[in-house]
Amino acid sequence: MKKDFITIHDLSQYEFYEILDLTKKMKKNPEKYRSALKDKILAMIFQKPSLRTRMTFEVGMLQLGGEGIYLAPSDIQMGSRESVRDIGKNLERWVDGIMIRTFGHDIILDLAESTRVPVINALTDLLHPCQAMADVFTLLEKKDRLAGLKLAYVGDGNNVAHSLMLAAAKAGMKIAVATPPGYEPKQEIISWAKEDGQGTDFELTITHDPVEAVKDADAIYTDVWASMGQEAEKEARKKIFAPYQVNGELFSKAKAETYFMHCLPAHRGEEVTDEIMDSPNSIVYDQAENRLHVQKVIMKILMGKK
Ligand code: CP
Ligand code: NVA
Repeated sequence: MKKDFITIHDLSQYEFYEILDLTKKMKKNPEKYRSALKDKILAMIFQKPSLRTRMTFEVGMLQLGGEGIYLAPSDIQMGSRESVRDIGKNLERWVDGIMIRTFGHDIILDLAESTRVPVINALTDLLHPCQAMADVFTLLEKKDRLAGLKLAYVGDGNNVAHSLMLAAAKAGMKIAVATPPGYEPKQEIISWAKEDGQGTDFELTITHDPVEAVKDADAIYTDVWASMGQEAEKEARKKIFAPYQVNGELFSKAKAETYFMHCLPAHRGEEVTDEIMDSPNSIVYDQAENRLHVQKVIMKILMGKK
């Protein structure tokens, strides 16, 4: 049966660590994997903009001996020119895998069900699993362990927050999520995280108090206040989220050696100040780099020789 990469919740503990272990090996010795996906083709469906995701999937395919083909929103007009399922049934005749960045999570589920080739989630409104895998890999590189570490997420309880919660659960980390009232993570994801974290050191705190969240944290993470697709809410959200800005004052409430993390793109002066983005504690570009390494491994596992 083909495998997809849609949510971290679907990974077994073994598969979660397999990705992290192989990422470490492949990052150290990329030459060894030059032909791991020789002549394989990845279709890359984008219904939203991207810098990191497009670059890292496309560069990753080239580095593994294959190629990624970019499909812009205007090209295939998913759902209007043609149904999601018909697109899945066409693509499987030509390519070895499909990466998709879209809106509703049901779209990726529909696509995965309709096609015989592996489908990789490159962001939906609900989840951003490739990002969270790169993030925990980055933390692992910095701290040499994951279990027991505390991550504080301050901002919108969005796709990135959801995937971080699921990664933290698999890794046995502590995660505190501080959001304004009404912007908490979804109950479904909270339940998945609790289920996945059973028997580990996983602890989940949901709060409205950013200071409580950052206490004793090993890393403080934030994301944009208005995600792609929420542009109409941008001004209203700026007011609601203002007390959740990650700035020098909030950092002064954390340990001195706390890292700053962000999935990027960042809106400097909104969710984070220049002072924090550009501080020695900031590891945001390491996270961006590691998107490449983690996704190469995910693609190799799903699309390479068994
Ligand atoms: N972090 C991330 O997914 O970046 P892009 O939106 O630029 O792909
Ligand atoms: N939450 C953001 C993440 C971008 C990588 C969004 O969905 O736009």
